[in-house]
Amino acid sequence: MDPARVPYHTRKLVEAVLADWPAHGDTLAKSFADRSDATHAHVERTAELVLKLADLDDLVRGYRWMCDMVFEEELGFRRTGRYRHASFAEVDRLVYQDRAAMTAYMHGLLASEVLWVQHARSLEYFVERFLPGNREGYRHLEVGPGHGILFWYAASDPRCSALVGYDISPTSLDATRRCLETLGVDRPFALEARDITAPLGVSEPFDSIAISEVCEHLEDPVAALRSLRGILAPGGRMYVNVPINAPAIDHITLLETPEAAVEMVESAGFRVLDPLFAPPAGYDLARARKRKASVSVALTAVPA
Ligand SMILES: C[S@@+](CC[C@H](N)C(=O)[O-])C[C@H]1O[C@@H](n2cnc3c(N)ncnc32)[C@H](O)[C@@H]1O
Repeated sequence: MDPARVPYHTRKLVEAVLADWPAHGDTLAKSFADRSDATHAHVERTAELVLKLADLDDLVRGYRWMCDMVFEEELGFRRTGRYRHASFAEVDRLVYQDRAAMTAYMHGLLASEVLWVQHARSLEYFVERFLPGNREGYRHLEVGPGHGILFWYAASDPRCSALVGYDISPTSLDATRRCLETLGVDRPFALEARDITAPLGVSEPFDSIAISEVCEHLEDPVAALRSLRGILAPGGRMYVNVPINAPAIDHITLLETPEAAVEMVESAGFRVLDPLFAPPAGYDLARARKRKASVSVALTAVPA
């Protein structure tokens, strides 16, 4: 990694992680090797926000917790070709309702928006390509905002007129609320404890929906996407971000190719525009396919 190309806030997080975990240096060097200037600039903006949202120590602890958890799940996945858990009820109890685990997880995910190139590029897609394509005055819904950073990016867009978030985890709802309060959003927003797999009655449809890193947590993501299609206004757009071959304690639906992610969205009644397939540190897409490495798929979906 060329430190001269890594801007101030990004470098601060990288240095804190490496001080605690020097052996992670090679991975981070690969993660920062091929970033464009635009990605560096986007990541620096995100890093500045992330450092306001949590203490460096908590970010480092959460990031290591998440990397260790993924490593542990990866061992089983390589042996069995499957994710460990298959039932939503199981992971709801183990993860979403466990405040300590969720807090570490959300800190880890926040750090990963800076440190994992596939997460950084997916978030860059959301901010630079998805949100600007929404119509003026759009009503926005996010499903599973978690730490809240995507929710904040939508909230800070002056063209967004209404903002709603649904999450099943009380810890995530608190984290999203704190995110907006800490980063200073001066507008009303609604956060509701809702299970996206339950029937979704809404009083007014949405012009914009984001569902990021959630489909792989559901037993039947196609049914959930279909019900989101039902609350999308005519001309509305949806952002989907879903990883393939990405074992984690709370991932229950396995997608094995980027095309399977696109097909999942299409089979819920959408047309997919402008998909991004973002491989992880040290891989190009061809090698990631061959090795069944995790790839983040970010896309825009419109009703077919
Ligand atoms: C991995 S986090 C994703 C956070 C953020 N959207 C991101 O892209 O990093 C998954 C979030 O989805 C929420 N979630 C999982 N299943 C859900 C469901 N059935 N209904 C609503 N939220 C759910 C979890 O509580 C958690 O906050």
